[in-house]
Amino acid sequence: MTNFVHKNILHTKQFSKEDLETIFKTARDMEDVISGKTSGWQLAGKIMASLFYEPSTRTRLSFESAMKRLGWEVITVAAAKSTSLSKWESLEDNAIINAMYSDILVMRHPEAGSVQITSDATEKPVINAWDGANQHPTQALLDVYTILKERWRLDNLTISIVWDLKYGRTTHSLVFLMWLYDNVDFRFISPVELKMPEKVITFLKDKNIPYTETTDYKSGIDNADVIYVTRLQRERFTDISEYERLKNDFILTNDVLLSGKPDITIMHPLPRVNEVDHEVDALPNAAFFRQAENGVPVRMALLYLLLKD
Ligand code: CP
Repeated sequence: MTNFVHKNILHTKQFSKEDLETIFKTARDMEDVISGKTSGWQLAGKIMASLFYEPSTRTRLSFESAMKRLGWEVITVAAAKSTSLSKWESLEDNAIINAMYSDILVMRHPEAGSVQITSDATEKPVINAWDGANQHPTQALLDVYTILKERWRLDNLTISIVWDLKYGRTTHSLVFLMWLYDNVDFRFISPVELKMPEKVITFLKDKNIPYTETTDYKSGIDNADVIYVTRLQRERFTDISEYERLKNDFILTNDVLLSGKPDITIMHPLPRVNEVDHEVDALPNAAFFRQAENGVPVRMALLYLLLKD
């Protein structure tokens, strides 16, 4: 991609290693803007349409915070029922109108492919903020940025990914970015019902990237540098008794962590339910709140790179 101006951000596979370097270097600069160390990055007059047709706390508010930190404006949709999509307006017509009122569209929608439909309907840049069972590329960007900040490298890492690997789309997006780095070894820890989907496994096999799959939490984090925990997504289960049967099976506690390196970086895209016990929060290597905070400089960097001309 290299030149970001007016590009769409739809999926993680579009990024090269050089793209990530550019985004992360700009995100470092944006941290200085946030802390007030530097200024001059603000560009007047841009408007972001913040289109969230599915619930969100971190993604929507960090995008809107990023826009405001850059001195720009935001118009917001925080629920599908408050828009004319609830009156059966098509995604295409909705996109054309939203693009007339803004310079960039950030969109979350429950249907896979919906953000692509929106970007096909407008010349304005569109950022995917999570489209159904598909991807969450900006979450993956901030996850990789967090790994870089916490471990000081992106090569030579063992990353254990835990729990709902079937529906946990952030884990798929993370794999589709981390494969760009050398010597990254994945461990997938989950019950068999929630294994990593075939599309991710096939991708790793095609790229010759090492991975292992296990149902055993403790052996799965042995000697890992990073543990990435996901939430069991109750809303994706058609049979709620299946959710009730599984919900307490993989809970990260200080006892489980005794099987890992003492400094293992603990990540979670949040929100969490019960899968990371609150006793873990006090550990210096519990990085999940810093990870959420990193959403602002990373999203500032993306918005800046897409809109700066
Ligand atoms: N991690 C994440 O996407 O959080 P939200 O659903 O709150 O945006």
